Amino acid sequence: MRKEILKTLMENTDKYISGEELSQIFSVSRTAVWKAIKALKEQGYQIESVSRKGYKLIEQTVALSADELAIKIKSEKHSYHFICHKSVDSTSSALKRLANEGVQEWTVVLSEEQLEGRGRLGRQWISKAGEGIYMSLLLKPDILPHHAAKITQIAASAVTLAIRETTNLPVLIKWPNDIVINGKKVCGILTEMAAELNQINYVILGIGINVNGEYFDEEIKDKASSLKMALGQEKPIDRKVVIESFFRHFEGLYEQFIDESDAGHAIEICRKYSAIIGTDVQILRRQNTEAVFVVDLTDEGELLIRHQDGREEVIISGEVSIRRGDRYI
Ligand code: BTN
Repeated sequence: MRKEILKTLMENTDKYISGEELSQIFSVSRTAVWKAIKALKEQGYQIESVSRKGYKLIEQTVALSADELAIKIKSEKHSYHFICHKSVDSTSSALKRLANEGVQEWTVVLSEEQLEGRGRLGRQWISKAGEGIYMSLLLKPDILPHHAAKITQIAASAVTLAIRETTNLPVLIKWPNDIVINGKKVCGILTEMAAELNQINYVILGIGINVNGEYFDEEIKDKASSLKMALGQEKPIDRKVVIESFFRHFEGLYEQFIDESDAGHAIEICRKYSAIIGTDVQILRRQNTEAVFVVDLTDEGELLIRHQDGREEVIISGEVSIRRGDRYI
């Protein structure tokens, strides 16, 4: 009911709605309405209450709210279940605990900050409060485990389309799981899976986007940026708009992959916005660094490279790290 009241206030920001009206619309008592309004105010919504007039939403909270996400992100096919924390160890670890308890597919855990944010290859993902999007989505795809890497490509495509759509920033994809702008990383994707030999139990898709940060620690400041820094603007970016756009793009691409066993559209987007196809890069593999040319992405989403002796090789994700010169990319 709190969510429905919020929705009504969001749809009527030009007028007051009385407690009486709300109680009639939702067939609840005036006390129940008052309690719901109080809870929304505690979440950070600025709701003006004027006696004999009623309630009006003045400002939508900048904090992430599960109610608001559930209103904005609707699907014909799936039931999203959003959970927003103020602080958590890692959204992916929190979701893993829930997955092991049997929560539904399309559960999404988000947090304002992560105390133990995790990146690929055991790295840390710095997740300062309110500065980024730290979210993890639970999927239970009926596919063979070796196809799961394509989910990373689908997510990378959806993040790229969402950032381009909502900010106009010309972000690119550094295969397989980073989104970059001007050679600096603004987003990382961590896909984890619980599976048996022939069957996936679940996949946790963890996405970290640097949105409104203005300062990065010394050790990463040359290779990380935020959307706000890249835009060079004062005004913070509304994270919920980016999240809504991400899910809209992700759902379409993911459904095509599951229903038609075809990740072709996502792979096409990864090719179109690739930061590395057609360039020379260094690949780091088992302590060895080698200069190679990136030819293309295969239709399976693997990286096709050419060695200096002309030999071509297909590389699967997770096998290598990629650098350009001494730069991140
Ligand atoms: C990488 O680039 O190494 C991947 C970074 C993934 C970070 C996200 S933030 C949300 C989710 N929770 C985590 O602990 N990690 C992922």
